[in-house]
Amino acid sequence: MLPGRTHWYGISQALVENEDVLRMWRSATVIAGPTNEPGPALRSCRDMPVADEVRVAIASDDDVLTARQQARTLAVALGFWSVEQTFIAIAVSELALNILQYAGRGDIVLSEGEQRGARGIIIEARDEGPGIADTTLALREGYSTSGRAGLGLSGAKRLMDEFELRSERGKGTTVTMKKWVR
Ligand SMILES: Nc1ncnc2c1ncn2[C@@H]1O[C@H](COP(=O)(O)OP(=O)(O)OP(=O)(O)O)[C@@H](O)[C@H]1O
Ligand SMILES: [Mg+2]
Repeated sequence: MLPGRTHWYGISQALVENEDVLRMWRSATVIAGPTNEPGPALRSCRDMPVADEVRVAIASDDDVLTARQQARTLAVALGFWSVEQTFIAIAVSELALNILQYAGRGDIVLSEGEQRGARGIIIEARDEGPGIADTTLALREGYSTSGRAGLGLSGAKRLMDEFELRSERGKGTTVTMKKWVR
């Protein structure tokens, strides 16, 4: 049983899954009120400073999971709601899986951004793998050079607010995605 658990009504279960979030919430004085409106605790989450940058080196399945979890942690700290936290986690997984599958290794870098007063998450996935010959084709739903579903890049693009794919044959691939807290 988590301390204070019964006071967390109105707050997504996803928020209590993560230890960092638990710590954050425990340190807050008042939790959400009887409606789903964010209470002072959530507002204090939104105002919390977060680490400047989190870098996750991707070279194994475990690293993909780590990147996914770190992305969710940052999304929670920035004040994204539960469904958006999941969208961000999925998009990061897809990019991390692509790094693993097509480049073998690379990095996911997570950071906080700001645009017109709104906080957001900035995700950069970069590798020095073989690169992508035709980035327009690679972004098309169903296009895959490995006989897969071909939905990773297009799906990640749909889940985020901003998406940029840059790639050079023989040099590598960098995807930058952003999403803003509404
Ligand atoms: N980091 C990368 N380096 C080189 N090629 C890549 C990279 N990421 C994607 N690609 C290329 O772009 C194509 C489309 O990627 P996408 O993630 O959309 O689909 P997929 O990986 O083939 O299938 P799915 O993600 O649905 O399992 C890939 O098949 C691959 O050819
Ligand atoms: Mg993929």
